[in-house]
Amino acid sequence: MAKNGGLITLGDLHEYQAVQRAPLEGDYKGFHIITSPPPSASGVGLLQMLATLNGTDYEKNGPGSAKAYHYLAEVMRRYFADRSQYLGDPDSVNNPVSRLLDPVYVNGRRATIDPDRATPSEKVTAGLSAGIEGTDTTHYSIVDAQGNAVAVTYTLNHPYGSGVTVPSAGFLLNNEMDDFAARPGEPNTYELVQGEKNAIAPGKRPLSSMVPTIILKDGKPFLILGSPGGSTIPTAVLQVIINVIDFHMNVQDAVDFPRIHHQWKPDRLEYESGISPDTISLLKQMGYSVEQAHSRVLPRVEAILLSEGWLQGANDSRSSSRSGGDGKAAGY
Ligand code: DON
Repeated sequence: MAKNGGLITLGDLHEYQAVQRAPLEGDYKGFHIITSPPPSASGVGLLQMLATLNGTDYEKNGPGSAKAYHYLAEVMRRYFADRSQYLGDPDSVNNPVSRLLDPVYVNGRRATIDPDRATPSEKVTAGLSAGIEGTDTTHYSIVDAQGNAVAVTYTLNHPYGSGVTVPSAGFLLNNEMDDFAARPGEPNTYELVQGEKNAIAPGKRPLSSMVPTIILKDGKPFLILGSPGGSTIPTAVLQVIINVIDFHMNVQDAVDFPRIHHQWKPDRLEYESGISPDTISLLKQMGYSVEQAHSRVLPRVEAILLSEGWLQGANDSRSSSRSGGDGKAAGY
């Protein structure tokens, strides 16, 4: 190396270590494939290219046919576009292997192949989306392997905050001023009527409805939860807590169970579908002004329950929220 101006030293060779890694596995037409994981880029490629071919019927044209080669070339170029963008040494790069092999992604990729025409490579870019960025306030609950728990809710207030980005800084300004009582006694955008104590004044912080919460049982984390949703946050979190503690539901049932919301003013009991019509008419007879919560969806609570040594994670299944479908319960 030294003689030829190379960069590798004896020390580099001493430090090199072989690493044993779990193979990558996948299926193709009933066959199970065991292949090389990153830092080979090609195990991912093999599984992705096979999956993309599967369903094109390319094989019906016979081996060596122009159509077969066309499909092969198209799946190859798409894979290499992904490889170029996403893959690297897994010790320093987070390779999105499962996303690249996700059937929904592969189906979308396959759909971009024109059966009759080559797609110019400059029109083929790496295909993973940047991920869904919700428009709402966001809550996450986490418990780690050591039993540490966090509950975090953060917000710009309304979707995209004030709608103003800071030039060249890349972030949005919030519009949290609406969390103050801008005009005490008048409703804000959550129809919340707030008083003088929450009026705007220099140096003052507005009241927030956010309530990331950790509940302990015998001194240890028991229920970790929180939610977006402005004024509907505390009422949603309250109902999940009573569903677990008083109604003994598992955490997913507790989160999904139909809710009501009442915030003093307007004097209205909002209810979700799923609550029995009998119950609603009994509430009406009691003097409630009831209204189905069409105008706004009651919020998506994300919760973890620690029960008898198990972690139960719940992602709210309310799917009709503005950014529905972007939550997830994941284990480790
Ligand atoms: O802190 C508050 O009460 C509000 N800024 C929260 C806004 C919110 O949750 C919007 N989410 N959908």
